[in-house]
Amino acid sequence: MSMERTFVMVKPDGVQRRLMGEILARFERAGLKVVAMKFMKVPRELAEKHYEIHRGKPFYEGLIAYITSGPVLAMVIEGINAIERVRAMVGATDPQKAAPGTIRGDFCQHIGRNAVHASDGPETAATEIALWFKEGEVVDYSMDDEKWIYE
Ligand code: RTP
Ligand code: MG
Repeated sequence: MSMERTFVMVKPDGVQRRLMGEILARFERAGLKVVAMKFMKVPRELAEKHYEIHRGKPFYEGLIAYITSGPVLAMVIEGINAIERVRAMVGATDPQKAAPGTIRGDFCQHIGRNAVHASDGPETAATEIALWFKEGEVVDYSMDDEKWIYE
């Protein structure tokens, strides 16, 4: 059991489809804590850095066009095993394979419009948090209900 932080983003389709609140509510209801948040249009340079590992793949150009096509909600979410936990809540990359009850399984149809991003491991989480947020933008604080969320 370890306290972790992960980078999560509501992608442009999630924003356009007015799903920001729905998606955020799921994380909040799970007892996870938002420690940073930013609503922004993604500059191409940042999109390219974020999806560096996919450079050269057939879907790469479409992916960059998608992620820069409108504003996104970028955030850092904290909780016990948050990285794995959030990935499980997001669901499989291809919504057709995403289980019902997951965000992609409940709201999405196509792999190219899957509404949300979440870091896939501890190293990626650290890299992505540092890429999207400056140090002072991630906020350390406690919440009054923590004694009811954690033992
Ligand atoms: P993400 O990074 O966005 O959280 O998604 P993921 O880990 O579940 O999937 P990843 O393999 O990292 O792929 C990144 C995003 O690229 C798009 N994609 N399209 N057309 C395709 O075959 C294809 N494959 C991937 C998706 O938007 C995916 O979320
Ligand atoms: Mg990924």
